Amino acid sequence: MNHEPAAHYDRVTAAWTLLLGEELHYGVFDDPATPLAEATARLTELMLEAARLAPGLALLDVGCGTGAPARRIARETGATVTGITTSAEGVARATALAEDAGLASELTFLQRDGMDNGFPDQSFDRVWALESSHLMRHRDRLIAECARVLAPGGRLVLCDIVLRRPLDLMEVRRLREPLALLRAVFGDARMEPLSEYRRLLEDAGLHVDSESDLTAATRPTFERWRQNADQHREQVTELLSAEDWQRFRDSCDVLASFWDDGTLGYGLIAGAKA
Ligand SMILES: C[S@@+](CC[C@H](N)C(=O)[O-])C[C@H]1O[C@@H](n2cnc3c(N)ncnc32)[C@H](O)[C@@H]1O
Repeated sequence: MNHEPAAHYDRVTAAWTLLLGEELHYGVFDDPATPLAEATARLTELMLEAARLAPGLALLDVGCGTGAPARRIARETGATVTGITTSAEGVARATALAEDAGLASELTFLQRDGMDNGFPDQSFDRVWALESSHLMRHRDRLIAECARVLAPGGRLVLCDIVLRRPLDLMEVRRLREPLALLRAVFGDARMEPLSEYRRLLEDAGLHVDSESDLTAATRPTFERWRQNADQHREQVTELLSAEDWQRFRDSCDVLASFWDDGTLGYGLIAGAKA
């Protein structure tokens, strides 16, 4: 199986929409009974608050999925959005959905790599990366690229799964099986502590002015994913395979245990360019 993010997302996008919802990310739950779609929308809302958008501003969405957050940004803020992803399938779906929503002139989706985005210096007012950075191996290049394309006074906002305690080699060895399962399900990912993101933003010349730990608030996500897996078992098996369905379901338990034992969690960070 190819775990490289572009190939991985090309393969899983349709099934992911059934399992994770239209917004391909975790939920933030004020109450564990909140429906998943509301909770994923809440995470986007926290990103919007940190981004401080306004009509006419240009935002770069790094790792745009199928464009659900971009459509919301355009609708609610009047900003224009350029979404990039390495997945051709993601670009095709996001483009078609933007057209269906009548947002074709506000939204552009391109197949590009967040670690080498190819845009001119200072060409965006805002840059955001909603749960995509863990898939980019060279985190320093991602952040440097985001900072490079930001105009002075612009903001970078990022949220993602984070490492909450150091794992030594012995432990990585002990956790080989659950880590391999996560890799098979979610692709080749590497988590960093929120403090490492702060360091990278600061090294790139940004002033960090907002940081939140969303670990507890995201924890009910896994129960919802498990429910979706049970509800859409047949379709997911058809789109992927029975083995993939089982692995996804098992990965919900693995993630829940990593959340509970303090290994992994979720964070949001934002900073401004002078
Ligand atoms: C978990 S999804 C999040 C999608 C979207 N931000 C959302 O919240 O709905 C991760 C996204 O990152 C994209 N991605 C992975 N590696 C990337 C890279 N090097 N450059 C740009 N996008 C990448 C994937 O294709 C996918 O669209």
